[in-house]
Amino acid sequence: MSTELFSLSGKIALVTGASRGIGRAIALAMAAAGADVAVAARSEGDLESLATEIQTHGRRCLVVPTDVTDRAAIQSMVDRTVVELGGLQILVNNAGGTKFVSPLVALRPEGWDKVMALNLDSVFHATQIGAQAMIDGDGGSIIQISSVAGVQGAEGLSFYSAAKGGARLMTQAVAKELAQSRVRVNSIAPGWVATDLNSNLREDEPTDKYIRSTIPMGRWGTSEEITGAAIFLASDASSFVTGATLVVDGGQTA
Ligand SMILES: NC(=O)c1ccc[n+]([C@@H]2O[C@H](COP(=O)([O-])OP(=O)(O)OC[C@H]3O[C@@H](n4cnc5c(N)ncnc54)[C@H](OP(=O)(O)O)[C@@H]3O)[C@@H](O)[C@H]2O)c1
Repeated sequence: MSTELFSLSGKIALVTGASRGIGRAIALAMAAAGADVAVAARSEGDLESLATEIQTHGRRCLVVPTDVTDRAAIQSMVDRTVVELGGLQILVNNAGGTKFVSPLVALRPEGWDKVMALNLDSVFHATQIGAQAMIDGDGGSIIQISSVAGVQGAEGLSFYSAAKGGARLMTQAVAKELAQSRVRVNSIAPGWVATDLNSNLREDEPTDKYIRSTIPMGRWGTSEEITGAAIFLASDASSFVTGATLVVDGGQTA
């Protein structure tokens, strides 16, 4: 198989949650694979330093400070990418996460709403707006960063499982709707990946040891280890793949 199949040369990508962690790694990998990249998150300073790094790959990078819980901001993020970079062929809905755990019976309704807004509503808004831009353009690939918690129920994280599982199933449905519109829609379900999101878990030795015991490979994944799946789903290598969930979890759900 030729590596040309995995090239993103000539494509324009938009990555949310690109200021750190998995999103930052995906934005850098897509630039290295030849894409021009728009990067979105709330931390403008971190996006600016990422843009400098992407420009060293010789690619264009547009910084679009965005809160993905705001539909108008998502519309503006997509519009600016199309106008200022010249189109949109790859959208990675990566912004998300949760900083708290709670059994469902103790969960405050505000906690449920907050996690839904960030992990499910934002994916609806960005997928709807991004898909329209792709239909109006040359087609494209939408990639949702789900989670193994959206594949299997995660104790203490029922709200996060509901949001990530909901976004993943919405993705499968919309993949069918868009299958003849040159827009593919897929999910990546990472397992435990060492990022700022879970630094508190890794710093607590018993918790870290327990988590590693649930992963057949016996270690946390890195953000860079999610990028191969993203490049595959963004590129022509996956031209007949839509509605799929690619699990990247060191064997955790096997
Ligand atoms: N790490 C894991 O083990 C793991 C496992 C499975 C799935 N995931 C998923 O992978 C994705 C990335 O996680 P990560 O571990 O890289 O998390 P992270 O290090 O906490 O990064 C989260 C990113 O999302 C952005 N973000 C958060 N709220 C936002 C908002 N309202 N608007 C715009 N951007 C926002 C953050 O930027 P700002 O703060 O600058 O806005 C940051 O760039 C998430 O969807 C997460 O649920 C992670």
